[in-house]
Amino acid sequence: MTGTELLELRDVTVTFTSGGLLSRRNPITAIDSISFQLSRGETLGLVGESGSGKSTTARAILRLADVDDGSIRFDGAEVTEFGRRTPLWYRRSVQAVFQDPKSSLNPRHVAARAVTNTLRRHGVKSRSARNEAAAEAFERVGLLPAHLYRYPSELSGGQQQRVAIARALALDSDLVICDEAVSALDLSTQAQIINLLADLQHSADLSYLFIAHDLGVVRDICDRIVVMYLGTVVETASNKLLFEHPKHPYTRALLAATPASHPRARERRRTRRAAHRDSRMTSTPPRGGEGCPFRLRCSSVMDVCETVTPPLQTLRDGSEVACHIYSEPQTSVAVAGCSEEA
Ligand SMILES: Nc1ncnc2c1ncn2[C@@H]1O[C@H](COP(=O)(O)OP(=O)(O)O)[C@@H](O)[C@H]1O
Ligand SMILES: [Mg+2]
Repeated sequence: MTGTELLELRDVTVTFTSGGLLSRRNPITAIDSISFQLSRGETLGLVGESGSGKSTTARAILRLADVDDGSIRFDGAEVTEFGRRTPLWYRRSVQAVFQDPKSSLNPRHVAARAVTNTLRRHGVKSRSARNEAAAEAFERVGLLPAHLYRYPSELSGGQQQRVAIARALALDSDLVICDEAVSALDLSTQAQIINLLADLQHSADLSYLFIAHDLGVVRDICDRIVVMYLGTVVETASNKLLFEHPKHPYTRALLAATPASHPRARERRRTRRAAHRDSRMTSTPPRGGEGCPFRLRCSSVMDVCETVTPPLQTLRDGSEVACHIYSEPQTSVAVAGCSEEA
């Protein structure tokens, strides 16, 4: 992490209304006033269970979802104030790698064209320069020259994802958003792709927004982690703090659900999971309402959680948490109570 801010989201809200009358009256707040920053050269993890708003956050940054409120600043520019057409420099700087590479590659084009077409769209006129750049990009992501002329169906899932990464990197981008980019791959391929992303980061001075529902994956690659729940940010912390001293009860529940390789750690997690299950109710409160969004599943719920939405506050160790347990007057007692449970 270099400490220079590249991306800053401040109070970003995205709502969806579909065609139905009911939905028009009750739009879904997919992300509700979320804020976080990403520094140059940093890998920031964005985690949370399915439906927590991770992909909507990515789509808002990529300008694939309309932002209702708030600010997205990238390298000094206000992204929400771009006109209908996203400037070419921004489309070059911010790239994405999605979960299913097959659906983002044209089945009728050989793999090289994923890169050469992108270069053409970005104004590289010479065909030989495009071909040369594609060959170079394939080499950087560990593909062989022969793979350039294969169709997506002739490549494995890991190789297809390497092509998607080659395309994302061919343009000398600054930020790559990986939305569940390794989730569909088997464990050993996952590890290879994560190593590749880490190697490329050092050689190309890249920042990553690394989205995953699995904390295990995030632990291996991320410097800092943002935890989302029901469209809100509930905790942000460095990798070390988050895994060693998780604060929000939801983060603790997520950690308890992460597979552990050591049998004793597995046993500890089983106990924690059981405790969490017992304390949990099945329903969730409506999005955007009053009170803590996690209150119906929280084992440490208090009266205040029913009526007051906890703000994201910065703690002394530098982490941020949106939980009444950490409100000033009760901090020491509540934190001690929480650590016991862990
Ligand atoms: N295009 C859309 N139209 C309506 N609702 C949507 C749309 N995209 C996402 N949502 C809703 O927004 C919420 C967050 O979704 P998403 O950002 O995909 O979560 P995640 O990526 O964390 O699984 C969910 O309730 C989802 O159903
Ligand atoms: Mg998603």
